[in-house]
Amino acid sequence: MRINLLTLFVIFHCNNGNQNDNKVKEFLKRINSENYQNGIRPGFSKGEIDKVEMNMYINSFGSISESLMEYTISIFMRQSWRDERLRHNLTKLTLSYHYGDILWVPDLFFRNEKKAYVHRVIHPNKLITVSEDGRVTYSQRITLKLSCNMILLKFPVDTQVCPLYLESFGYTTEELMFYWKKKNPVQLNIENELPKYELKDMIFDNCTQNYLTGNFTCIKTVFTLERQYDFYIIQFYLPSILIVMISWISFWIDNEAIPARISLGLLTVLTQITQMSGLKNLSPAVSYVTTLDVWNFACLIFTCAAFIEFSIVNGVKYGVKDDKTTIEEKEQSRETDGVSTTMNHQIRRRHIKMKKFSCKM
Ligand SMILES: *[C@@H]1O[C@H](CO)[C@@H](O)[C@H](O)[C@H]1NC(C)=O
Ligand SMILES: *[C@@H]1O[C@H](CO)[C@@H](O)[C@H](O)[C@H]1NC(C)=O
Ligand SMILES: *[C@@H]1O[C@H](CO)[C@@H](O)[C@H](O)[C@H]1NC(C)=O
Repeated sequence: MRINLLTLFVIFHCNNGNQNDNKVKEFLKRINSENYQNGIRPGFSKGEIDKVEMNMYINSFGSISESLMEYTISIFMRQSWRDERLRHNLTKLTLSYHYGDILWVPDLFFRNEKKAYVHRVIHPNKLITVSEDGRVTYSQRITLKLSCNMILLKFPVDTQVCPLYLESFGYTTEELMFYWKKKNPVQLNIENELPKYELKDMIFDNCTQNYLTGNFTCIKTVFTLERQYDFYIIQFYLPSILIVMISWISFWIDNEAIPARISLGLLTVLTQITQMSGLKNLSPAVSYVTTLDVWNFACLIFTCAAFIEFSIVNGVKYGVKDDKTTIEEKEQSRETDGVSTTMNHQIRRRHIKMKKFSCKM
């Protein structure tokens, strides 16, 4: 009795398997026959607009280059549409990557792409599933190098907005329409961390284009990237503040200690210049002035001013001294000392004003 039941089960199971096999064979025969033309879009015979729903998973996001004005992302691009011709009576069908060439697929392209490829190791990274009602999901793994117009006036406290445009190449809006998936159209790999930026926001929008040849459907997502400037604070802002403060030490050194004041003044000026040239390798090569350049130049002015102040004080003191006779020298020198100290005070007051101004900056 038990053996009988087992045989029955096996037979039933095999029958079921055979049935499915036949259905799959019938389906594949249908799409390989002349009845299915992949050159014709699904809604053509009924005069309907084909609606393609897009969503993507960002596998990695990185290599943002300011000098080349581009960024690189690696994504799973998923497109989903309905093709009535592909209805079947199986629950769900997963087809191999070959069928990307056999079925009709939307003619998607990335408008701001510079270079892109579909990964092909070991086989082309494509996935096609067809559900019972003929809804096709087409997923590909693509790496894209995209152009992004960057404005670096506020560098290094800048925020960049980098778009990604998905557009149809051949079908106008009367034939094909792209939509973002309603919920979570772009998912992000949480393990992915950008080295220089932080991804703050993603905006989804319609960028349908009016060309002379017609209107072509286009959707876009815009990534808002905020630069992480902690590195620049430690590496540039704090050191240059310290250099300027060191240049002020010379105000406390006696104005007769000429070698000490000259070496301190020159050293701070030279260090500031070295700092500025060292920065060139790390800041983007743009022809306009960025905030960091302004900061550096202001610091250079402060260090130079401290040095010039000493030269003026020195000039005033010894210039007056030379005109006096030797008899009156002692008294005169005391007086000029007084003059120079008042001068010193005035200049010092002016410096304090400048310092306050720099704080406001
Ligand atoms: C699915 O099965 C139903 C009946 O079971 C049949 O009428 C229909 O034609 C089948 N559809 C396809 C696409 O084979
Ligand atoms: C985009 O805008 C066009 C008109 O400019 C409109 O016809 C189309 O439906 C819009 N697409 C989406 C996805 O909203
Ligand atoms: C394209 O769309 C604009 C409105 O957005 C419309 O005025 C124009 O007629 C359309 N052109 C074509 C060729 O459909």
